[in-house]
Amino acid sequence: MKSYKIVALPGDGIGPEIMKCGLDVLEAISEGTDYRFQISKKAFGGAAIDQFGEPLPKETLDAAKEADAILLAAIGGPKWDEETERPEAGLLALRKALALFANIRPIQVPAAISHLSPLKEDRVAGCDFIVVRELTGGLYFGEPKQWNEHEATDTLYYQAYEIERIIEKAFLIARSRDKKVTSVDKANVLASSKLWRKIAEQVAARYPEITLEHLYVDAASMLLIQNPKKFDVIVTENMFGDIISDEASVIPGSLGLLPSASHAENGPSLYEPIHGSAPDIAGQNIANPISMILSVAMMLRQSFQLHEAAKKIEQATNRTMESGCLTKDLGGNATTTAFTEAVIKEIQKGAVQNGTNTF
Ligand code: NAD
Ligand code: IPM
Ligand code: MN
Repeated sequence: MKSYKIVALPGDGIGPEIMKCGLDVLEAISEGTDYRFQISKKAFGGAAIDQFGEPLPKETLDAAKEADAILLAAIGGPKWDEETERPEAGLLALRKALALFANIRPIQVPAAISHLSPLKEDRVAGCDFIVVRELTGGLYFGEPKQWNEHEATDTLYYQAYEIERIIEKAFLIARSRDKKVTSVDKANVLASSKLWRKIAEQVAARYPEITLEHLYVDAASMLLIQNPKKFDVIVTENMFGDIISDEASVIPGSLGLLPSASHAENGPSLYEPIHGSAPDIAGQNIANPISMILSVAMMLRQSFQLHEAAKKIEQATNRTMESGCLTKDLGGNATTTAFTEAVIKEIQKGAVQNGTNTF
């Protein structure tokens, strides 16, 4: 019997609620198979500050390093906003310690809910693209970084190899899709973007079958809403990627739909929703668990090559939405737990159909 070691980081706010959904789905998918998941829950974020005085305790980091994969729900909240070391610092430290430079954020509009998008249905139906966000460099990590009463500094610093490896990642993904990469930068102003654009051209020369286009981040933000179907793979700097991926959640209609995967060159990958701990709806059993459930599917496919199992989860989630079972963010009245139970029932019905999501 094959066994996979997973470190689960429930975190804060809606984090523990949706983590339970993800783990219940994981248990359901392993029933009757020859593999098992060994789950080890660890303190992280605000919960770890409360328990251990720091957002990323050594025990959590050590366990994460030893794991086959890491599942994270969400961290942060107003309770810890004034801490010297906030929950968010723990997340950045974890990404850095595991060298998770490639954050993959797929944006798809499930057919069952394309009419619910705040954008016109014909603009969004069938939309399917991936944001490849650089995750361990750029404005988030550059030094100097400091502030006092009178002045503040952040630094947008990249070494050429950091740019090259994330752009290469985007091209590798585009190769198995529609063969189009959009590199998003601010090369009309930023020095780091000038280097970014030059390296994007160099990488593109190695992939003649793939089309590369460059867009400035301001125009890209507009086109993303005006004509989202034009995109296949978007690759961009850490902070630009943070912003445009939240913006992109408006296309399918909720932040609660979007999963992500973060990969290093070696070592375990981390899977997490792109959203935060949603303190405004925490503890009410109304959060949309799809982002977490689809993060589990991404983990099965990308870390464990369990393609059938991943597909089963994605199809069960789609069938649940098709049946009209929707959480509040999508205008429905299903609770977090009721939605998850419905997904598990669909999983138990079995039968994988052909042709569907492949993140
Ligand atoms: P957020 O993503 O938590 O929430 C933004 C909005 O989306 C809120 O209205 C929220 O209710 C809604 N939302 C988010 N996830 C949802 C879900 N699954 N179902 C239904 N609605 C959902 O962003 P925020 O409010 O700006 O930040 C809250 C906290 O989360 C902050 O401390 C922030 O730093 C942190 N944060 C953490 C992560 C992470 O853990 N990876 C990501 C982003 C923000
Ligand atoms: C995300 C979040 C994080 C980020 C925060 C919580 C540090 O917004 O995962 O998108 O900015 O990367
Ligand atoms: Mn974000």
